Amino acid sequence: MQTRLRVGIVGAGFAARFHTAGWRRVHGVEVEIAGVYGRNPERAREFAARHHMAVFSSWRELLDRVDVVDICTPGATHEALAVEALRAGRDVVLEKPYTGYYGPQDAASAGAFSGLTFDREAALAAVRASCRRLREAIAASGRRLGYAENWIYAPAVQKEREILEKSGGQVLRQLGEESHSGSHAPSYGRWRESGGGALAGKGCHPLSAALYFKMIEGRGRNGRPIWPARVSAHLHRLTQLPGYLDCGWLRTDYADTEDYGQMHVIFEDGTVADILASDVVLGGVSNWIEVFCGNHRTRCNLNPTDALETFVPGADTLRDVYIVEKLQPRQGWMRPAPDEDWQHGYPQEMQDFAQAFAVEREPESSWRLGEKVSLTLAAAYLSASREGQTVAIE
Ligand SMILES: NC(=O)c1ccc[n+]([C@@H]2O[C@H](COP(=O)([O-])OP(=O)(O)OC[C@H]3O[C@@H](n4cnc5c(N)ncnc54)[C@H](O)[C@@H]3O)[C@@H](O)[C@H]2O)c1
Repeated sequence: MQTRLRVGIVGAGFAARFHTAGWRRVHGVEVEIAGVYGRNPERAREFAARHHMAVFSSWRELLDRVDVVDICTPGATHEALAVEALRAGRDVVLEKPYTGYYGPQDAASAGAFSGLTFDREAALAAVRASCRRLREAIAASGRRLGYAENWIYAPAVQKEREILEKSGGQVLRQLGEESHSGSHAPSYGRWRESGGGALAGKGCHPLSAALYFKMIEGRGRNGRPIWPARVSAHLHRLTQLPGYLDCGWLRTDYADTEDYGQMHVIFEDGTVADILASDVVLGGVSNWIEVFCGNHRTRCNLNPTDALETFVPGADTLRDVYIVEKLQPRQGWMRPAPDEDWQHGYPQEMQDFAQAFAVEREPESSWRLGEKVSLTLAAAYLSASREGQTVAIE
């Protein structure tokens, strides 16, 4: 057992913040954040100063100095960074998306690429190939890969996992959503950088939870997960409609991605999950999944929850108080998150990854789940381009 882990953070943006906070809450395994490396050196230096850690001047320096590489960079970089880290013999934490399709990355063909028109069958083939390369790199390295899907570790999802395991429930139907009024990231909305719109960026979360619950059910009943087999999907660009009335509250600058998506997933056993994702929901994030079984029904509310309810008449009273993600304005009745990171499962995922790497076991959220999520999403985009025709995932 390795009781001390040196972690290197790659990327110095939004996700790097909650990964750092999560690592610092790990107990039972000694975690040292060795430092951060980012492509933008100034941003990396600022991040390192703000979060009291060293800064690496190169990717190579980070690789040489750590046991765990924590990848918090945009999706287009995920496969290359993860494969290199595994080849160097490091355990890896990989943010979502596990992998995806970003179009041609060379400057010559990039100009002609549009997220609205590319060949989605070729994209599905490219995602399959990327999954295969990652799988081969993991197998060859003998190391572990933690897929940083925080929904798996959210307390609401873990409580339903316990209910499912102990009650032996059969999940017949699931309905889940992640939505809000639009991502903070400037790259979001341009397919070559984001690898898709609401369906990929947000839908991946409830989709992961839905796949996880069927994994748990299958493991409990037959000793093997029940995987998704087929998917159909529809996408829309609601804020780009000619008749869209812009009231100023929703983000609208989506160059070539959808702002609303829905997918219908059919599992190997014929049961189903319906996933919704959008950028057109006001009132803060809307993150939930409902599980319908023959012996129980559970609604997992990740955000908002009603642990805290606050009424504020003044527009400026809570100017300096964090409430929940993407909530504007901060007035009237609100449900501030007492500990949003915990509610989202961020510290718990780092706890599981640290323990898994220390004793060399698979994390609860591993490459197996990440791979299925990426394949399901790529098949969903192909389905949407065929007016919702059902597409086989493998
Ligand atoms: N699980 C969640 O709730 C959640 C939330 C937000 C973002 N994410 C995921 O986290 C990842 C990062 O998103 P973000 O919002 O933090 O983006 P961001 O733009 O805020 O930060 C990205 C950082 O990566 C750096 N970077 C880019 N390419 C790099 C490279 N090749 N090598 C080293 N550094 C590089 C950038 O300089 C920047 O510091 C994405 O995959 C995103 O999908 C997950």
